[in-house]
Amino acid sequence: MSQSIAHPALIEAPVLDVFAERWSTRIFDATAVIDEDALRSVLEAARWAPSASNTQPWHFIVGRRGTDTHAKLFDGLLDFNQAWAGTASVLIAFVTETERDGRALPWSEYDLGQSAAFLTVQAHAEGLATHQMGGIDRAKLRAAFDLPATYEPVSIMAVGTLGDPQLASEQLREREAAPRVRNSLEGILIAND
Ligand SMILES: Cc1cc2nc3c(=O)[nH]c(=O)nc-3n(C[C@H](O)[C@H](O)[C@H](O)COP(=O)(O)O)c2cc1C
Repeated sequence: MSQSIAHPALIEAPVLDVFAERWSTRIFDATAVIDEDALRSVLEAARWAPSASNTQPWHFIVGRRGTDTHAKLFDGLLDFNQAWAGTASVLIAFVTETERDGRALPWSEYDLGQSAAFLTVQAHAEGLATHQMGGIDRAKLRAAFDLPATYEPVSIMAVGTLGDPQLASEQLREREAAPRVRNSLEGILIAND
């Protein structure tokens, strides 16, 4: 893993390095071009996520910086995400099928989230940074990509190379320096007999 570790997690039990090292940066290298093999691998990891009855409801819209697809994805971000996410090499929209052949897919967003998690883990292994965003304009994205009513855009992920904090705004640097925090392990266990 070549990324510098800005925020190692304060772990309460041993975990794989990726879980302690990964974090959601807002400072990407605006000059970095995505490695196509790495991009294919992160999408492949997402494809191998488990899903309810193996329905695989996920679909992805991949836009490399500088392309029309990227411009449409960027336009589908809310302002507070547009403020930083455009520097990532790639934006990926996570779209889920909520219904198939007239039948609801009740776990489709759960499954989509798993594909996103798998993607972030592979990305970290490829030396790529990621940041997921729910702050999107779903209606705008739906229209921009002519999505059918049974397809729901849920999030966009920025994927790229970590940038130099010295080149970022003071506001971004401050946010980047904030510690990663989590509720305690004991606190999230409803029962643990
Ligand atoms: C579904 C989802 C939606 C999120 N939406 C946004 C967002 O719109 N903007 C943003 O800056 N971060 C967003 N985040 C990032 C979270 O704030 C971040 O993952 C959380 O604070 C934990 O930080 P870490 O990923 O660095 O551990 C989102 C994360 C997820 C999983």
